[in-house]
Amino acid sequence: MSPESATPQPSQSQPGQAQPLLEVDSLTVDIDGEVGKHRILDDVSITLEPGEPMGLVGESGSGKSMTLRTILGMLPPAATVVDGEVRFRGRNILTSGSGRRYDQKVRGTGISMVFQEPAIALNPVMKVGRQITDAIAERKGLSKRASHDLAIELMDRVGIANPESRVSDYPFQLSGGMRQRVMIAAALAQEPEILLCDEPTTALDVTIQAQVLDLFRTMQQEKGLGLLYVTHDLAVVAQLCTSISVMKSGKIIEHGNLQRIFDEPQEDYTRRLLSATPRIDDGVQLERAT
Ligand SMILES: Nc1ncnc2c1ncn2[C@@H]1O[C@H](COP(=O)(O)OP(=O)(O)OP(=O)(O)O)[C@@H](O)[C@H]1O
Ligand SMILES: [Mg+2]
Repeated sequence: MSPESATPQPSQSQPGQAQPLLEVDSLTVDIDGEVGKHRILDDVSITLEPGEPMGLVGESGSGKSMTLRTILGMLPPAATVVDGEVRFRGRNILTSGSGRRYDQKVRGTGISMVFQEPAIALNPVMKVGRQITDAIAERKGLSKRASHDLAIELMDRVGIANPESRVSDYPFQLSGGMRQRVMIAAALAQEPEILLCDEPTTALDVTIQAQVLDLFRTMQQEKGLGLLYVTHDLAVVAQLCTSISVMKSGKIIEHGNLQRIFDEPQEDYTRRLLSATPRIDDGVQLERAT
């Protein structure tokens, strides 16, 4: 991928409207896989408004991870952006074509991502504390001591016990759930405006999951963090998000606010996804665990 900047484009939003944080506009992506070239994203459009966290749900293979990776400019090399745009605060950050260009300056403080597999994001030969603070320490000119303290604070916030001793561990010394939390801490350390989450809490037990969801909610409400949240767990979407987009076979087939999708899904496919999930007003499972 070329590190060149994409040409800035005017925003598509109407005068008087708040600028969307993120607009994915008619995005179409092909991939050259083992079975030949095929379409993995087909005319995908998503608008993320400030203060309106969105859940992205759909069956396995429907294109959720590829959507997030396109927004982050980290598609596999075999993928081609055939058409469409990604705009961050009205500015085009991705141009289509096989020689696609992504504005890499946006990655980190603009848009950051918690990946489905920690292995993609963590460096196996670097201590986890350094991985958490690396990006921010350089930017803020933090001393070694201050950066060490920040890593410990963030590890504590994502529920890692004894962060003082864990900070010097390498990823292989941690459990899968802890690695996932390190990745979340590293993504948050960059203080991004938008956090893309790809099943970030799957490897976590229920109590830790509740703590991490609380942290996301706090960041969202207090700091205005934009969230695009991929999960199979609609109960999590109900706790965290105000709207839902539903993906099937590379397309967004339904989108709406949380209550509307839960109460009146338009598509059978959405109904099937929901049937495995308790209703919003069912209580217990959808209540915030504290
Ligand atoms: N590296 C790759 N090479 C070829 N095809 C790929 C690659 N990665 C993903 N795909 C294909 O792209 C499509 C979308 O995959 P994606 O990973 O986005 O699905 P997903 O919705 O995230 O699924 P899951 O819920 O299982 O994580 C699938 O058909 C998948 O087989
Ligand atoms: Mg995925």
